[in-house]
Amino acid sequence: MVRHMLSLMEYTPDEIMGILHMSRTFKELPGRPTPVRAGRTLMLVFEKPSTRTRVSLTVAASHLGMETIYASPQELQLGRGETIADTARTLSRYVDVIAARVYRHVTVEELARHSSVPVINALSDLYHPLQALADALTIWEKTGKLRGATVAFVGDVGNNVARSIAVIGAKLGWEVRLIGPRELWPEDLRGALDPELASSGGSIVLSEDPADVRGVDVVYTDVWVSMGQEAERERRMALLRRYQVNVRLMEAAGDPIFMHCLPANRGMEVTDDVLDGPRSAVWDQAENRLHTAKAVLVALVA
Ligand code: CP
Ligand code: NVA
Repeated sequence: MVRHMLSLMEYTPDEIMGILHMSRTFKELPGRPTPVRAGRTLMLVFEKPSTRTRVSLTVAASHLGMETIYASPQELQLGRGETIADTARTLSRYVDVIAARVYRHVTVEELARHSSVPVINALSDLYHPLQALADALTIWEKTGKLRGATVAFVGDVGNNVARSIAVIGAKLGWEVRLIGPRELWPEDLRGALDPELASSGGSIVLSEDPADVRGVDVVYTDVWVSMGQEAERERRMALLRRYQVNVRLMEAAGDPIFMHCLPANRGMEVTDDVLDGPRSAVWDQAENRLHTAKAVLVALVA
């Protein structure tokens, strides 16, 4: 049975903590090259732009002794109508792992269904598991809490990054507060994560009130208009305007760290003084994409 990484829902808390411990080991390792997966090949198929995910996976693979091939669908026969299934079957005969960044989550599910090598979701409209792992590592380092952190995600609480925070939070027993307009609440996640929450002791609270950031360890935000949502820009801006993370909101929270998956739309969902301020963890968070990418590749590639 091939193991994929599509949403993190399919991983146990112990498996997630194992990946985080391995990430920390990689981070602390003296000297970067650790060619424990020499001769293997990572294929990146990206429908959307990427800085952090593309480069962290490529560099992680290189440190592990792996080769990487990058292609947009337009550079593959996929762009001329070859099916996802046939693409998956073919690529599986050449490479050892596939990371795909897609518009629709069903696309990465379809790839995985027909691939005989592991498929990693490198961001879909619903989930961003690689980001969530780097976020958990960052929260662990900054707050000392691998389990049981209190995290407020403020803004577009229905997007891929917010949903992945909810998933990993449910696994690790976090108190996750999703604070944003009711129209964007990820209602489907509530019931889906109930069994995880029951065993981890975590909770997911949905709120429309920015004042509910009070007392959290982490204030997290992301863009108001994700890739693929450009046509909804005006509606989203109007809905989300009151959820900007600024100094006032950070003070209302107490003394939290600030996190953002990046890229940021400065002056919109977050102000410069917070993003560049003393409580901002965003550059360590971005760095941690590299260490967690290595652990994921080692975990998935035989
Ligand atoms: N955070 C993140 O996934 O960034 P990229 O879109 O640059 O990969
Ligand atoms: N929610 C953002 C995350 C980018 C890393 C998007 O999907 O565009």
